[in-house]
Amino acid sequence: MRAVRVTAFGAPDVLRTEEVPDPRPDAGEVLIDVERAGVGYGDVIVRTGRYPFPLPYVPGLEAGGTVAAVGAGVDPDLVGRRVVAATTGMTGGYAERAVAAAGAVHEVPAGLPLDRAVAVFQSGAVAVGLLSAIGLRRGETVLVTAAAGRIGSLLVQRARTAGAGLVVAAVGGARKAAAAREFGADVVVDHTAPGWAGQVRQATGGRGTDVTLDAVGGPVGAGALAATADGGGRFALYGFTSGTWVELDAHRIGRRGISVVGALGIAFAKPAEEQHADAAEALRAAAAGELVPRIHATFPLERAAAAHAALEDRSSIGAVQLTTARH
Ligand SMILES: NC(=O)c1ccc[n+]([C@@H]2O[C@H](COP(=O)([O-])OP(=O)(O)OC[C@H]3O[C@@H](n4cnc5c(N)ncnc54)[C@H](OP(=O)(O)O)[C@@H]3O)[C@@H](O)[C@H]2O)c1
Repeated sequence: MRAVRVTAFGAPDVLRTEEVPDPRPDAGEVLIDVERAGVGYGDVIVRTGRYPFPLPYVPGLEAGGTVAAVGAGVDPDLVGRRVVAATTGMTGGYAERAVAAAGAVHEVPAGLPLDRAVAVFQSGAVAVGLLSAIGLRRGETVLVTAAAGRIGSLLVQRARTAGAGLVVAAVGGARKAAAAREFGADVVVDHTAPGWAGQVRQATGGRGTDVTLDAVGGPVGAGALAATADGGGRFALYGFTSGTWVELDAHRIGRRGISVVGALGIAFAKPAEEQHADAAEALRAAAAGELVPRIHATFPLERAAAAHAALEDRSSIGAVQLTTARH
């Protein structure tokens, strides 16, 4: 089968498509004929060696397609079903065939196209898990950074349907600002411009946001923390696309009366059953039209480098995917 294999960490061109043997499902696993693989910023972080996996590896933790075979102990009725799944070891999705634990597989709800199911089942699970961990209440004000991103765009939508009062989106640039409004943000600020945290405070009548959700870290994360309400504000950090996590000074946060949740425990480090329930909820919401993921672009396997570049150069709005269809 064709698979994208990484033999050394580095620039996007380390993503090379090669012929490799098919993987085999072990006991408790399924083998999936992959049609679509999700590409997330986390894949970029691993590829650059900032969060290294053992080499060589096939990237890709999100796969969608049809179950081709099952390992020992797995219901054979699964064969032929249309599914999305988190791959075993968070690798192997950028390939024509991938394996996943049977417990990490979700049937694609009737009427939901596969590309949307792939775009939503993990990103949406992060959004669902994050808003539940932070305890968003009706009427509260919310700030989302990288709000036109894969997860950010779903956070804006989910905050809206959860009854948030004012939803403030922070994005880089005018094109993303327009998209963030389409996703449901009331106020949009440019987090690449100086003084943006002050604009967020102004938009919330000077108080700051009740809930802040930050994917960027670094100076943007610091601005987001500054824009969070003293005396009860909650700050969730779930990513560091800027290259560094937001710096947290426990003494200062304590004095301001802010609670913090995160970081990776929002999705990856929580119990498998909770991750599964969050993904199932995201798929339900997508099938019901409450979560509408935007697909920025779909690249053939051979162009995985271009898919990564779209995330790294910050041009993507919504999700980037790979297709195994031959072009
Ligand atoms: N905690 C968890 O369990 C969990 C699970 C999955 C993913 N994540 C994390 O969630 C974050 C978002 O992932 P995603 O896939 O949804 O990505 P994404 O938001 O679609 O793409 C990354 C965005 O980050 C912003 N950004 C700011 N500074 C950047 C820089 N120096 N380089 C590149 N991008 C920069 C850009 O938006 P602007 O142009 O608008 O600034 C860019 O579009 C990642 O850090 C990922 O690792 C966490």
